[in-house]
Amino acid sequence: MMRVALPLAGALTPLVMAFALTPALAEDDTEMIVGGKPAPEAKYPYQVRLCSSLEDDKGFCGGSLIAPQWVLTAGHCMYSGRESPKRAIEPSEVVIGYGSNDREETTKVEVAEIFVQPKYAACEGDTDCADNAKADVALLKLTAPVADAKTVTLADPDTEKTLLVPGTEIVVTGWGAMWDPYDKDVSKLLAAFGPAGALEEKVNFPRKLAEVEVDWVNNASCAAAFNAAGGRIADTEICAMRQGTRKDSCQGDSGGPAVVPAKDGSGFVQVGVVSWGRGCGGALPGVYSRVAAFSGWIHDTMAQGDRPPPAPDDAAPADQGSPAVDGPPDSAPDATEDTPN
Ligand code: ARG
Repeated sequence: MMRVALPLAGALTPLVMAFALTPALAEDDTEMIVGGKPAPEAKYPYQVRLCSSLEDDKGFCGGSLIAPQWVLTAGHCMYSGRESPKRAIEPSEVVIGYGSNDREETTKVEVAEIFVQPKYAACEGDTDCADNAKADVALLKLTAPVADAKTVTLADPDTEKTLLVPGTEIVVTGWGAMWDPYDKDVSKLLAAFGPAGALEEKVNFPRKLAEVEVDWVNNASCAAAFNAAGGRIADTEICAMRQGTRKDSCQGDSGGPAVVPAKDGSGFVQVGVVSWGRGCGGALPGVYSRVAAFSGWIHDTMAQGDRPPPAPDDAAPADQGSPAVDGPPDSAPDATEDTPN
């Protein structure tokens, strides 16, 4: 244990100091995401929180408004439980909150349909599948369009080439944990600071949206770093970290947007979706689903989802033209990944 305790004590010093120096702790959290800062109000108006009901203002994942009635998020946010295969959640279990940096002040809209990227969905139901994080995206069709929706532009393969160049800074936003919530040593330390769970709750679920700036890491370097640590990076993913800092996304940020400023100065272009990492803020980059790798699927799925349902007596078989797209809107979720638990 000593081997772990010494470096960890060093790593924890900023956290301990942050809390020691902030006795009030209340609404003025200054460290969010990991190593980030509170986002200016309305700077990321496309950011949404995924909540599990109209009453839930804590939420479980992030997302982005990409059209007035569509949210992009992570595939893994659409499954619950830690066992494999996990249970696919139903549209009635997702509500999005938008319009405020304070997740308790967001406006709620219910979700009508969930489209998990088919490669991700197929893999989620297959315990032997090694690739399950490599298509970690999903689309949510809302029950009604958001009025005056402020959407984010998505990168496609062409624009991505000009956006992701050496030195590119990527901004990630979310209401996720300020420290790896699975790090038991941190949990123990936090518990020592006050009544059961109070501080831990604040660290794991900050109320205000946070932003963090990290640097794009090209796939070759990222893959080399992860290979050496027994991980794998696909070309449907991108990586980002800021060397020498703990800046990173973390648990609860998943599904949220990783963006770069648009070349024409008009807001942001989304290049990634928060997907996974090895802990948070450690030596390895954070991993994001590569938005540009899913342009076709996103486009086709939205086109299909926006098509009016066929008239009742117009019983022709549903168009199965695009194999990359989920079943028609009125079909049941794929039985293979819908395991109750
Ligand atoms: N899987 C996490 C989530 O569900 C996101 C983890 C991101 N990790 C990282 N080190 N960047 O919220």
